[in-house]
Amino acid sequence: MSRITAAITAVQGYVPPDTLTNADLEKMVDTTDEWIRTRTGVEVRHILKGEGLGTSDMGAEAVRGLLAKRGIDASEIDLLICATVTPDHLFPATANIISDKVGAVNAWSYDINAACSGFLFALTTASQFIETGKYKKVIVVGADKMSSIVDYTDRATCIIFGDGAGAVLLEPSSDGLGLMDSILRSDGSGRQYLHQKAGGSVKPASHESVDKREHFVFQDGQPVFKAAVKGMADVSAEIMEKNNLSAEDVAWLVPHQANLRIIDATANRMGVGSEKVMINIQKYGNTTAATIPLCLWDWEKKLHTGDNIILAAFGGGFTWGSIYLKWAYETK
Ligand code: UT7
Repeated sequence: MSRITAAITAVQGYVPPDTLTNADLEKMVDTTDEWIRTRTGVEVRHILKGEGLGTSDMGAEAVRGLLAKRGIDASEIDLLICATVTPDHLFPATANIISDKVGAVNAWSYDINAACSGFLFALTTASQFIETGKYKKVIVVGADKMSSIVDYTDRATCIIFGDGAGAVLLEPSSDGLGLMDSILRSDGSGRQYLHQKAGGSVKPASHESVDKREHFVFQDGQPVFKAAVKGMADVSAEIMEKNNLSAEDVAWLVPHQANLRIIDATANRMGVGSEKVMINIQKYGNTTAATIPLCLWDWEKKLHTGDNIILAAFGGGFTWGSIYLKWAYETK
């Protein structure tokens, strides 16, 4: 009997209509379009505006599109996992809310928090439920409303992040397609460089925490940059070696979109030419858990059955990792 693998059988993204350009940011903080473009690669980000709208609204939009595309009903979904660091609420899980909004009444749902590596952690977790034969249809959502935790007076962080969501459907394959391998890592000692100081159990919200602007992303950019370059490049090279893949064998590198310079370093280390690297940081910024599914969505029409694809990410935690998958369908 052939091995069951977990194949991505549909992908869908969603970004909200409002945008925040580098020119807009020039009016808000002491920065320039030139600095942002050359240091990060970002030109514009999408921002979710509107009273009462949160991460689940973007996730639900992506999932609705995914179901319509695949022509299936929400009631057929067995499990929905959402990767996010900007949940609608601390509890219940945003995945539960997405399932409710789309009508996935037979799915159980939960969130995974691995910051910018969240989609990789969730995809690997979800694939296990397919590989065991237990489930037939599992949705993985990567969604973040980063604008809800970005300090728009801090020029070092507000220029990077944007809002968005992406979702994929996983189904069993017996054709040797889908997720082949993954290497995932975490190192909690890196938490000092990238975190949110207040709002958790260590420092619940107080007047003082609000006054001190502690409910926003804190990032010490340089150490994160250095760890990201090493972590993402090392793990991507490692997964290629482990699976006997040369640069020629790799059809696409799908890197987390945090900084163009980190992406370039990873591609160089893998020996993969820039024509094989998915880059959309210029139009969305860093959407945290959504960057990788948003890339797959943007490039979907160019992907072919059997393409060897390497996903790679690095983020808060620290967390990082790489997934090797074989694309499983053609887009008409
Ligand atoms: O996705 C999750 C993981 N996160 C990442 O991977 C992000 C990793 N880090 C980075 O991408 C970069 O560190 C940043 C983009 C955040 C910052 O770029 P950098 O090249 O590391 O800049 P820096 O922090 O070393 O700052 C260099 C200079 C400083 O000025 P001085 O001290 O040299 O006078 C900053 O104050 O640039 C200044 N600066 C800015 N100038 C204009 C910092 N932010 C800005 C800005 N506009 N927005």
